[in-house]
Amino acid sequence: MMDASFLDISLDRLRSKHGMKWSRYGDDVIGAWVADMDFPVAPAIQQAIDEIQADNEFGYPALDAGMAVREAFADWVKREHRWRIDPDDTLLLGDVLQAMHAAIMRFSEPGDGLIVQTPIYPPFLGAVSANNRRLDESPLIRETNGYGIDFDQLRAVIDKRTKMLLLCNPHNPTGRAFSRKELKKLAAIALEHDLIVVSDEIHMDLVYPELRHIPFASLGPEIAARTITLSAATKSFNIAGLRCAIAHFGSPELRREFSGINLRLFGTPSIMGMAATRAAWQSGKEWLSLVRDQLDENRQRVEIFLSANLPEIGFHMPEATYLAWLDCTAIELNESPQEFFLSQAKVGLNPGSDFSSATEKFARLNFATTPTVLNEILNRMAYAVKR
Ligand SMILES: Cc1ncc(COP(=O)(O)O)c(C=O)c1O
Repeated sequence: MMDASFLDISLDRLRSKHGMKWSRYGDDVIGAWVADMDFPVAPAIQQAIDEIQADNEFGYPALDAGMAVREAFADWVKREHRWRIDPDDTLLLGDVLQAMHAAIMRFSEPGDGLIVQTPIYPPFLGAVSANNRRLDESPLIRETNGYGIDFDQLRAVIDKRTKMLLLCNPHNPTGRAFSRKELKKLAAIALEHDLIVVSDEIHMDLVYPELRHIPFASLGPEIAARTITLSAATKSFNIAGLRCAIAHFGSPELRREFSGINLRLFGTPSIMGMAATRAAWQSGKEWLSLVRDQLDENRQRVEIFLSANLPEIGFHMPEATYLAWLDCTAIELNESPQEFFLSQAKVGLNPGSDFSSATEKFARLNFATTPTVLNEILNRMAYAVKR
């Protein structure tokens, strides 16, 4: 449980925010969609930003500023995820998706197949189509205890033109934190079929206490040598607007090949983004633990509420992320669940159809908010269904 002042954010205050989450819909709608949290940032981040502002430091960052962030990342993943890396094998970028597009352009040709485990964070699908690649779709299957990988189907989808696996671990939107066993099986497939793996691990720090995050590249040198890991402090520390991400290359060849793209196209992260990211990884641990505890309480609140009041919604408690993937098929709506809950409950969710063509009866709920706001969201949803 976070200290009370941390959670003392009223709905009015949230509504007055200018960002995407709270400005998209009308004043009467509660934003529970895009992956921003409603909590204020870690004190260490606020301080880093305040110092830049107080010192009027808005010029080009020092030459070693980027290296300091990369070193902070290496320290962080060693401490948090027992993953030992060399900061020299990393590259800072503005955002994770830039790196994903660049990797696709660099390691595959138009028409080549890219494996994506659907339903998926929609920009993965956009990255495949925008680069004219083939979507080699591997739907996660719903089992009694949550979503799993259908390895037979995955193997069957691979042919000679399949070049890459775009892995999302932890997985958005299902909240799966894949097990070592599952990741090893994926690694074996990548090795067998000579696939490059882009492993988006932006949610790495949001795995709940019963499990650990396993960086894909930490499985061993052979798999690391074909893996580009993408991450950032932006999701776990709630600083997505500051734009700073990191790519780790598991071999010098991968890095060299990637750098063959015109890196000038990336621009550079801003002085604010770098300072905030460095502060997060160097001094944000305590704040993150508090936030994770609150998110853990929230995910349990969602589960308890849904099973008591909306049992028709299919839901598996996420192992990671602050996103709840809701199967609304059994409510039998005439419109999409996103449209229904927007108009009838005044709650703004993400439409399931954005995450795969098979999930139009789903919606994604962002529960990274205060217990009061979360209760209001859930009560509004239940009332709308029962009315
Ligand atoms: C899995 C995943 N990857 C990437 C992003 C976006 O990252 P960026 O803003 O750095 O491109 C998100 C945002 O929610 C995400 O959930």
